[in-house]
Amino acid sequence: MSLPNHKPDLEDAMNVTEAHGRVIREAAATAREKRITDNGREPVSLWVLVVCAVPLLIAGSILGAGGNLFAYSSTFRENYVRTPAGGAGDTGPVPKEALAAFMAKGSKIYSAKCNGCHGADAKGDGANYPSLAGSKWVLGETERFAMVILNGLQGPTSSGKTYGAGVMPAQGAGMTAEDLAGLMTYVRNNFGNSTGDIVTVEMATAALEISAARAKAGQAVTADELAADHAKALPGEPLDPKVMVNTATLAPAPAAP
Ligand code: HEC
Repeated sequence: MSLPNHKPDLEDAMNVTEAHGRVIREAAATAREKRITDNGREPVSLWVLVVCAVPLLIAGSILGAGGNLFAYSSTFRENYVRTPAGGAGDTGPVPKEALAAFMAKGSKIYSAKCNGCHGADAKGDGANYPSLAGSKWVLGETERFAMVILNGLQGPTSSGKTYGAGVMPAQGAGMTAEDLAGLMTYVRNNFGNSTGDIVTVEMATAALEISAARAKAGQAVTADELAADHAKALPGEPLDPKVMVNTATLAPAPAAP
C-alpha cells in the first residue's frame, strides 16, 4: 500500500517563503508610491480649508466687536483681587534670626555714623582714629560702650592712648533704641570681633535713659567717668541669637510658615 500523497498542489520549484516575502514587499512599495488611504480618510484640499475659514472669521469679528465674547468683563471677574497666601503677607518682612537681623540694621548705622572716622574695616588709622577691632571698650561692658557712642569721648582711650585731637563727637543724635541695639551688636560681632551675643532693644533703651540721666549730660565721657560709673553690663534679659525677629522692629516674630 502506497502512502497517501499529502503534497500541496504547488510547483516543486516554488519557494513558498520567498513568494510570501515578495507579496508583502510589493504591497509595501505600492502603499509608499501610490499613498493608498482608506475611504473617507483622504487629505482635504487646501482650498476647502480656506473657504471654511472665511465664514468663521466673519462670525468671529461680528461676535467679538458687537457682542462681548472676548470682552475683558466676560473673561475676568469684576473687582477681583488676589488674596495673598496667609502668613508671610500679613506680618510684613520675613523674620530673620536675631543675630543676623540686628547686624543688618547695625551695618547701616555704622556706614552712616562711624565709617567716616573709624573706617570701613573699623581698624582706624593708628593716629587720628582708634581701631574698634579688639577694643576693650567695644568688647567689654555694654554700658561703657553705649556711653561712648551716645556722648562721645574725651581721651584717653581704652589703650591709654589719645588719638588725633583727643575727642570723639557724640553720635547719639536721632538714634533710636533699635538703631543703638543693632549698631552695638554689629560692632561687637564684626571686624574680627565676635562676642556672639546681642545688645537687645531693652538694653539699648536703658542705655538711652542712663545717658540722659548723667550728671555731665551733654558732655563727652572720659575714661575716669567710664571707670567710675559705667563699667557695667546694661540691664535686660539676654536674647537668644537664633530666635526669629522682625527685621524692622527687631521684636521677636513668629517664624515664617
Ligand atoms: C568724627 C570722627 C568720629 C566718628 C564719626 C566716630 N568716632 Fe569713635 N572715636 C573717634 C576718635 C577720635 C576716638 C578717640 C578719641 C580719643 O582719643 O580721645 C574715638 C574713639 C572711639 C571708641 C573708643 C575705643 C577705645 O578702644 O577706647 C569707640 C568704642 C568708638 N569711638 C566708637 C564709635 C562708634 C561706634 C561710632 C559710630 C556711631 C563712632 N565711634 C564714630 C572719632 C570718631
